[in-house]
Amino acid sequence: MDSVPHTQKVALVTGACGGLGRAIAEKLLRQGANVVVCDINEKLIADFKEKVSSAYPECTLVVKADITDDAALDDLFAETEKTFGHVDFVINNCGIMDRFDPVGAMERDMWDRVIAINLTAPAMVTKRAVNLMLKHDIKGSIVNISSIAGLRGFASGAAYTASGMQTNIASKYITEQGLNFNMEGYGVHAQAFPNEHLIMVEIEKIADFVSYLCSDAASVINGATLTADGGWTAN
Ligand SMILES: NC(=O)c1ccc[n+]([C@@H]2O[C@H](COP(=O)([O-])OP(=O)(O)OC[C@H]3O[C@@H](n4cnc5c(N)ncnc54)[C@H](O)[C@@H]3O)[C@@H](O)[C@H]2O)c1
Repeated sequence: MDSVPHTQKVALVTGACGGLGRAIAEKLLRQGANVVVCDINEKLIADFKEKVSSAYPECTLVVKADITDDAALDDLFAETEKTFGHVDFVINNCGIMDRFDPVGAMERDMWDRVIAINLTAPAMVTKRAVNLMLKHDIKGSIVNISSIAGLRGFASGAAYTASGMQTNIASKYITEQGLNFNMEGYGVHAQAFPNEHLIMVEIEKIADFVSYLCSDAASVINGATLTADGGWTAN
């Protein structure tokens, strides 16, 4: 049974009907938060509504939105404010893979799509999150989920690796405003790195870590880039 450290808090999770995003959304709901869930995939949204929202009908707002669409993001934040009044935590979780193409084989369309979803969209979400937090005088937390590909650099998956190198564009500004901003890289895709010593990380443990980063206990962690990769990048 989870404790409820996030009672009365409002969290927004992008790509929240997929693997990790759903685990984070469910974790925060179990811990007492109201959670705004956004995703683009109707099938996954329907499954989330049936299996998760139904257990927390007052605490979930599920929005179909394409995070690369500025108007959709405006609507998402407006609906969040209308429903729950403000936002305390924003988890930029949504991300897509490329096809592990090295730079020489990289296709322009794939590059553009990966950069739009993994790099540009989180920045546009963060912009709106910061402004909504400041409007309501909230000392909130923003967590960007990335990949160790973006921290370490890998030859395969040029677009994904580049998109993961999200600079902490907002961290100094947010830190000055007293908002927490952290970036987390985790996990590996086994098939891409056949010669590596593989360490797989359970998404439940990543969800725990994200929850911790949003908690008061983690208020001293700010503007940090952290890994939760079982020691993969420690070597
Ligand atoms: N799975 C891994 O091994 C792994 C490893 C390292 C980092 N990550 C990172 O973790 C995060 C989550 O990965 P995951 O494996 O859970 O992904 P996933 O594919 O299971 O979930 C991603 C979700 O985002 C949604 N989505 C895609 N495009 C969207 C858009 N334009 N607008 C709104 N929603 C959209 C999808 O419908 C899906 O539900 C990503 O940022 C990823 O880069 C994953």
